[in-house]
Amino acid sequence: MNDIAIETRDITKRYGSAANGVLALDRVSVAIPKGTVFGLLGPNGAGKTTLIKLLTGIADITSGDARVAGFDVRRQSLAVRSRIGWVAAEVILDDEFSAWENLWLQARLQDLPDWQGRAEQLLRYFELSDRKTDRVSHFSTGMRKKLEIALALLHQPEVIFMDEPTIGLDVSTRRMIWEIVTGVHREFGVTVLLTTHYIEEADALCDRIGIIDHGRIIATGTPSELKSRVRSDVIQLESKEPIDPVRLRALPGVQDVRAQGNEWQIRVPSADEFLPRLFATIQTDQIRRISVEQPSLETVFLELTGHRIGSDEPMRDIRKFYAQVRRARG
Ligand SMILES: Nc1ncnc2c1ncn2[C@@H]1O[C@H](COP(=O)(O)OP(=O)(O)OP(=O)(O)O)[C@@H](O)[C@H]1O
Ligand SMILES: [Mg+2]
Repeated sequence: MNDIAIETRDITKRYGSAANGVLALDRVSVAIPKGTVFGLLGPNGAGKTTLIKLLTGIADITSGDARVAGFDVRRQSLAVRSRIGWVAAEVILDDEFSAWENLWLQARLQDLPDWQGRAEQLLRYFELSDRKTDRVSHFSTGMRKKLEIALALLHQPEVIFMDEPTIGLDVSTRRMIWEIVTGVHREFGVTVLLTTHYIEEADALCDRIGIIDHGRIIATGTPSELKSRVRSDVIQLESKEPIDPVRLRALPGVQDVRAQGNEWQIRVPSADEFLPRLFATIQTDQIRRISVEQPSLETVFLELTGHRIGSDEPMRDIRKFYAQVRRARG
């Protein structure tokens, strides 16, 4: 009994020639257990879509091995294709067709007999039954996304690939898709491999995450395993007047102090223990802004790669910050 749904061993993808091509994936090895949601988290150009293309057989593997749903991607591609579904980043629906006609088309493309019962079940599950005969061009973005997922599930795949399932969606639609992904995986027992460059998405959705950068998987683990790799809090402080760095470094617990003008980054094992000492040293009216960055996937990424995936969190307002500190002290 094999409990692994997706396994790659040192797969590499080079687009173009060895001399001046692009090394999009560099010896990637992952093992994704059946029935889990695995997230590939990385910035633009990291190689996320390329990995999906290799695993679905859309692009050729340059070297290395991959198995999906128990079959070798290179040697048993038909067996793999019949067991996987794919939700592409770009829209694949036919706008002129109704929801039902899109399902019919999908069934034709995949040569599925007796697909109607399953299609009805999926429409019910995605709460689209009453829109069954409406043209897809009249659907909202969220409804379209649901229908795309329904198409990918029509042939009862064991594994489903979702490339940036929520890219460009507003926050509430994004959350709806998160619920759908979790629900689909629970309801239909499929293994999900999704790609994202949204940290909160990986954190909220995935059982395990692979962090990918420049074609390499640089860390894998559950969100909390990854976060526990970073053991310190970072205090971001903006002062009104210059502060003597010697005073900051002398405070007990300080691991590192970096300054850029009047903006300070102070690394400490625990912000809760450190802040009272800081406030005893610096007058609070000297502080323009302050925030605490606790270990997050963002800081993990930063620590591993030296750069950020997304944009910086704005520094919190100092009054809100004090309110929070007061609450924490209870
Ligand atoms: N068909 C192609 N021909 C040549 N180079 C390619 C091709 N497809 C992708 N690449 C290159 O491979 C690298 C990885 O691209 P890929 O699309 O896998 O990244 P990604 O992680 O999906 O990025 P994004 O978040 O922007 O979708 C990039 O440098 C890209 O330019
Ligand atoms: Mg991509």
